[in-house]
Amino acid sequence: MDSKAAGAADRATHESLLMRTNWTDTLWSLRISRPADFRFEPGHYARLGLEQPDGSVLWRPYSIVSAPDDAALEFLVVRVAGGPFTQQLDQLAIGQPVLLDPAAYGFFIARQLLPGGTLWMLATGTGLGPYVSLLRTPGALHAFARVILVHSVRHRDDLAYRTEIEQAVASAPQGLTYIPVVTRDTVPGLPSARIPALIADGSLQDMAGVALTPDSSRVMVCGHPDFTADMRRLLGERGFTPCRRASPGSMLFEKYW
Ligand SMILES: NC(=O)c1ccc[n+]([C@@H]2O[C@H](COP(=O)([O-])OP(=O)(O)OC[C@H]3O[C@@H](n4cnc5c(N)ncnc54)[C@H](OP(=O)(O)O)[C@@H]3O)[C@@H](O)[C@H]2O)c1
Repeated sequence: MDSKAAGAADRATHESLLMRTNWTDTLWSLRISRPADFRFEPGHYARLGLEQPDGSVLWRPYSIVSAPDDAALEFLVVRVAGGPFTQQLDQLAIGQPVLLDPAAYGFFIARQLLPGGTLWMLATGTGLGPYVSLLRTPGALHAFARVILVHSVRHRDDLAYRTEIEQAVASAPQGLTYIPVVTRDTVPGLPSARIPALIADGSLQDMAGVALTPDSSRVMVCGHPDFTADMRRLLGERGFTPCRRASPGSMLFEKYW
């Protein structure tokens, strides 16, 4: 157990599963009870714990999908093949216990970016989660003139929260653009190449109708570790600057697993 997890076990609060939404057989959202004093910002992650038969606790970090004013905490979960935590989580029935580390963690916070211009929110898979939290939080994106949300998934059914996002677009038609990308099915009207390739050949910028330059754009990148590495390289070559604790930048990353 790492030191963070050891501390978490001491401080953990006992929560319970309130609700589950299945997107596919292996992709689902969970809502758990939330302690009144649990504080977070969109982009933070929480640590969930599951008790094991030997009395130990298995901990995993999950980005928070819900907004800070939501009475519950919501998470987007993909079942990891052979992964003990998500297999156990998959079996959890409504009302059963989940441990919660009472602190929220992370630096994937939009205000770390320079304000203004177009915000590109790029996600693969469950990396969508922090952006849903941002969209659900009134005022969280007011620093930006336009927002482009790009979500890349393997199959059409993996487009979690699609209806909710499309409703958000409809209520903010000028300010928010949603571009789903499906890489392993052919879906008429949707791109099927990976995000870095779509940026490299300019087709993502054409779809959004806006350029992707360090002067005019801020970029958040969340998801598969190879994706975040590829995007760091691509954006760095184009002159984007990373966010530092003391100085805002034009690109910000959250790497999963
Ligand atoms: N250990 C963990 O904590 C953890 C967490 C989440 C997921 N996972 C693993 O990932 C598996 C699948 O998750 P998922 O369905 O979300 O799939 P995924 O493999 O992350 O794919 C989601 C999207 O990302 C794209 N992608 C993958 N690598 C990329 C790269 N280097 N650059 C750009 N785009 C890239 C995929 O394109 P392609 O179709 O072209 O690959 C797909 O469109 C899970 O079953 C699990 O094993 C593990």
